[in-house]
Amino acid sequence: MHRLLKFFLIVLGAYVLLKLPGLFFGIPVPSSLVLLYLFFVAVVTLLVMTSTEASARSLFAPIVAIVEDPALVRRRNAIFAVLPVLAALVAYQVVLPDNEANIGFRAVHPAPPALMEAYGKSFDLTTLENPLRPVESTDPVRFARLVKEGGDIYYSNCLFCHGAKLDGRGHYAHALDPRPLTFQGVDTIAQLQESYVFWRIVKGGPGLPKQSGPWASSMPVWEAELSEEEVWKVILFIYDYTGNRPREWSR
Ligand code: HEC
Repeated sequence: MHRLLKFFLIVLGAYVLLKLPGLFFGIPVPSSLVLLYLFFVAVVTLLVMTSTEASARSLFAPIVAIVEDPALVRRRNAIFAVLPVLAALVAYQVVLPDNEANIGFRAVHPAPPALMEAYGKSFDLTTLENPLRPVESTDPVRFARLVKEGGDIYYSNCLFCHGAKLDGRGHYAHALDPRPLTFQGVDTIAQLQESYVFWRIVKGGPGLPKQSGPWASSMPVWEAELSEEEVWKVILFIYDYTGNRPREWSR
């Protein structure tokens, strides 16, 4: 067997070996690691195979022949035509945007469902109001405490994505697509009813209807982490902090 072929078979063998855990045990080796290992395998194999002058020459003999041997001119021309095309294809694949992720516009505020099942009961989102909102006018002292508790919930759960200043610029935000939304300004919660915000927090990204795809929102489902009352409190906080007022049902 020719030594150049042997070299490629060794690298291929290493590749198959690295893919096995993913294929059979469902625990894939990260592709960046696979690439790193393949690089080492290739380098070490090359080192061994080119340890003497003669062995190096025999390893690269076929490549030298393709370039220099007048008898192989056809093969040479074919290879030199195909290689750039292959390189172009690879480059095209790399720069080509992921069509799936960019077609059309994403509905940021899709219509909520009329009914929502959560906390073992059914919420009518068309009439639901924040049960804690009336406290704002009846008992301002207690209201301030509720807002503060909502703030504690915010800073231990939402901060990482929605940001310390509620501007959508948390530590993780730059890595997420779609980005966490800001609560500042007039484009998001200022235009929404609290029932809508309640639905979004309770059901998160997975609760969004299809037209809010095709990106996968990383907004978590908070139903299992926060109680119903905690969600209402965190809502009080995000309106209070940003100075926004929830949209109200027109009566
Ligand atoms: C892992 C990151 C992450 C965390 C943690 C997170 N969110 Fe989000 N959130 C997002 C992303 C991304 C979006 C935008 C995509 C979407 O609408 O689902 C979003 C959207 C929202 C929306 C919709 C706003 C609008 O204008 O429609 C609300 C409300 C919200 N988050 C509240 C919260 C609250 C409250 C918490 C904490 C209890 C929280 N989020 C925690 C990532 C996160």
